[in-house]
Amino acid sequence: MDQRISMTDKFDLNGWCAQHLQRVEQALDKWVSVDASSDLEHAAPAELMRAMRYAVLDGGKRLRPLLVFAAFEALSSGLTQANESEAACDVEAALRAACAVELIHAYSLVHDDMPCMDNDVLRRGKPTVHVQFGSASALLAGDALQALAFELLTPDDAAVPASRQARMCRLLARAAGCAGMAGGQAIDLASVGRPLTEDQLREMHQLKTGALLQASVMMGVACGDATAQAVQALQTYGAAIGLAFQVVDDMLDVTADSATLGKTAGKDQAQDKPTYVSLMGLERAHAYAQTLYDQALAALASSGLSDTRALQGLASLMVQRSS
Ligand code: IPE
Ligand code: IPE
Ligand code: MG
Ligand code: MG
Ligand code: MG
Repeated sequence: MDQRISMTDKFDLNGWCAQHLQRVEQALDKWVSVDASSDLEHAAPAELMRAMRYAVLDGGKRLRPLLVFAAFEALSSGLTQANESEAACDVEAALRAACAVELIHAYSLVHDDMPCMDNDVLRRGKPTVHVQFGSASALLAGDALQALAFELLTPDDAAVPASRQARMCRLLARAAGCAGMAGGQAIDLASVGRPLTEDQLREMHQLKTGALLQASVMMGVACGDATAQAVQALQTYGAAIGLAFQVVDDMLDVTADSATLGKTAGKDQAQDKPTYVSLMGLERAHAYAQTLYDQALAALASSGLSDTRALQGLASLMVQRSS
């Protein structure tokens, strides 16, 4: 009998998201805290921790953590795990991966908003971290969030096997660094006022945004057991939705208002940034996002996995979102 669950089978994406979001919020609240980093009696690090919590908690769509869970669960679907403690270990690894990738993302936003980069005053509906705490604290909060992400991936008990810890660290480090987000941000800053070709723009977006979204998917994959076919398919899925996400971000900068976005609308044009909208206009950018979405769904269909409905739903959310 064909075990494949078709796209039309009922799937409660909202319920699925709500359930996983609750776990992520609770875990972030626990791990980004004074308790978790021993007693911070000195006022300065206590203030740093306040800036870190301000950057991470109470806001954000948490799409990257959701992708980690969706990929992890897609691999687990249809499998019966023989060993209960191994299953618990995989779930713990997924939760840690989900929070770690969100911490890297939150750090990237703090730095992205600083006066030396995009100089933004509004993020997630609140004043940006440097506006609230000053530039030095924003810089350090970003640094400390990045370090905390890798600390989360390397628990010193046996909660996650060492080889898996190493794999996760490598995936996240690669996506956050020079060949990923930081490299893409460098291209972004160097490209202000310079028209880019479509290839150059694609590369910039793949690095600054796509890499971390794709890594979210692949970290979910690294928490379970995947066939080579599934790994390849999910890599393609991650690349497609990662790029689509930034295409849509470029579109929303033009079409949405600041209140809906929780960040300042119209910044890209004001700062003369090359974007998909400046390159091809809104209509073609929209069509391109749709093409990437179709590619993502085609990849899932070729994965050999029996239930990819959460991944399908997230792809759709990422392309159809209004904020
Ligand atoms: C915003 O990311 C920055 C980009 C990479 C385009 P999100 O739109 O995921 O931001 P939050 O996490 O929901 O605030
Ligand atoms: C930021 O891209 C990507 C990051 C790595 C943070 P943008 O500069 O377009 O993100 P927003 O629009 O400020 O969220
Ligand atoms: Mg930017
Ligand atoms: Mg920005
Ligand atoms: Mg933007």
